[in-house]
Amino acid sequence: MRALTVAPGSADSLEVTDVDDPSAGEGELLVDAIAVGVCGTDKEIAAGDYGWAPPGSERLVIGHESLGRVRTAPADSDFHPGDVVVGVVRRPDPVPCGACEHGQFDMCRNGRYTERGIKELDGFASEQWTVPTKYAVKLDPSLDRVGMLMEPTSVVAKAWDQVERVGARAWFDPRTVLVTGAGPIGLLAALLGVQRGLDVHVLDQVAEGPKPDLVSALGATYHCTSVEEVTRQHVPDIVIEATGVPAVVFDSLNGTAPYGIVCLTGVSPVGRSLSIDGGAINRELVLENDAVIGSVNANREHFGMAADALAAADSDWLERLISRRVPLADFSTAFLAQDDDVKVVVELGAP
Ligand code: BGC
Repeated sequence: MRALTVAPGSADSLEVTDVDDPSAGEGELLVDAIAVGVCGTDKEIAAGDYGWAPPGSERLVIGHESLGRVRTAPADSDFHPGDVVVGVVRRPDPVPCGACEHGQFDMCRNGRYTERGIKELDGFASEQWTVPTKYAVKLDPSLDRVGMLMEPTSVVAKAWDQVERVGARAWFDPRTVLVTGAGPIGLLAALLGVQRGLDVHVLDQVAEGPKPDLVSALGATYHCTSVEEVTRQHVPDIVIEATGVPAVVFDSLNGTAPYGIVCLTGVSPVGRSLSIDGGAINRELVLENDAVIGSVNANREHFGMAADALAAADSDWLERLISRRVPLADFSTAFLAQDDDVKVVVELGAP
């Protein structure tokens, strides 16, 4: 079968290659792939800046934003042929650390976790894949065109869960959230904010294209200005930071209401420096009981939350997030940013 593979560490090594057909082991599903989403991490892997091949292999099957349809399922499982499913990305470390031992592999303490399509495990950008039932999540059948949004939604479901857990350390009644960045993570974070009944503001640097309309279609407010200006006007209780841009990150820390929570989800490039007033930031965090949380990845529970959030969302809005669908043979165009891109997906089979 065909798969999209890469030699991690080598720029421009991404290509469609023939790999062995998978066969489902005990307790595993065999899945016909529908599509994979492409995100910043995939682009970093394709650029040779991130990613690890499975031990003993030079190449890694890329793709962690999966979507497929079950071909075969173990008779004693909750899955059936025809079910629409996605695979969980991360697997616990082999030790395992305390967090992994408790099913919280998204919080792995020793860094020896593995991730499908990213770190030492083949991903989902192949015409078929297998997955143990305990790492598969069933989706509402109506999501068979947009379900590759599940993985990024699981990442924001975790971020929201973290914010609510930190907020619950004292009386907490948030009203206003600022989401910085209107890419897929920012837009999905805004969706989950609206679903919570919050007054949602989204900040991005583009004034045109699909993003302003996608935000207003949610009932949220789009801003194309500075973090300082929007935080001065709206004083958010919560910021979900989804740009990873250092200046935006630090301006967000200064802009919350007292007892504010900033959740950082953007993975930034390293090696750029920025001049900041560390004393002012520390003073603000201390004097206002503010909290800053980093959040990455998602465990099974977060995938469950994401499945519920997507099932409750407007399916036309979700469809509009997918700005381009590219056949596998044209994969390279999916990795080149185009104006008006939101989420680009590579198609691997019929829905
Ligand atoms: C993925 C996460 C993963 C992270 C780091 C992100 O793009 O969505 O699941 O943990 O990259 O590898």
